[in-house]
Amino acid sequence: MRLVVTNINLGLWAAAYIKEKISAFSPSPEKPFVLGLPTGGTVVDMYANLRLFHKAGLLDFKNVVTFNMDEYVGLPHDHPQSYHSYMRRHLFDEVNLLPENTHILNGEAPDPAAECAAFEAAIARAGGIDLFVGGVGRNGHIAFNEPGSAFNTRTRQVALAPSTIQANARFFFNDENRVPKTALSVGIGTVTDAKEVLFLASGDKKAQAVARVMQPGQDINCPLTALKLHPHATLLADPQACSQLTAPAQEKLAEQMAKSPNATHWMLKTEEL
Ligand code: GLP
Repeated sequence: MRLVVTNINLGLWAAAYIKEKISAFSPSPEKPFVLGLPTGGTVVDMYANLRLFHKAGLLDFKNVVTFNMDEYVGLPHDHPQSYHSYMRRHLFDEVNLLPENTHILNGEAPDPAAECAAFEAAIARAGGIDLFVGGVGRNGHIAFNEPGSAFNTRTRQVALAPSTIQANARFFFNDENRVPKTALSVGIGTVTDAKEVLFLASGDKKAQAVARVMQPGQDINCPLTALKLHPHATLLADPQACSQLTAPAQEKLAEQMAKSPNATHWMLKTEEL
């Protein structure tokens, strides 16, 4: 896995990367680009930049198919904090994605297991995910796969960790009681099946998870480390999220920064540490 550190806006970097991937793919109705999408605070800027690229005529979503990672159980779609409304607000209502090409788990499904199985089947029918973009929980979760989740999990109903409920209370009037306690989430295996993965971590609250990834091996208590087993994985981070890297990693990074101070990003490979 490579860690890309940038001190330009993370959202701009990620949106430009996605734009390049989609255009290099030349998607068509027969062969659409299949994009896995996240929600959360970190990726708000990424969506803003995707919308700008689209409005500037630089990014066409006509032949793009999307699958979102997760959704809270029990929030109506029109609840302002449901991931259905988040996606409408930040992307779907603003670009030319065809409604039939967007997929979000239904947190109100009467049969959650059937809903999750249908979601996996839809991904398979679409030919798998070309690029899965994600955020990182403060506790290292990816989608809603909390610490302790097996690396081969598939889409299913999950319980949110107390630390996630606490972290996400900021979207629910700082009231932990209002945060749903369960969610439907793609599994770690669903994410790592994607042809490529790009995860974003910003701010010092993510520094511990980023530091763990850059240490040897995998750790079931840090789901983000599962991405190290993927042949084409990038973790994109800002300097604050890298503030707890081990001394050798910090040194390598500092060396690169000193060598190319004007670069837009610097890179560390987990295998080289
Ligand atoms: C939420 C989402 C995750 C997201 C993470 C980070 O709980 N389920 O998919 O990556 O938390 O959120 P934020 O970017 O707001 O820190």
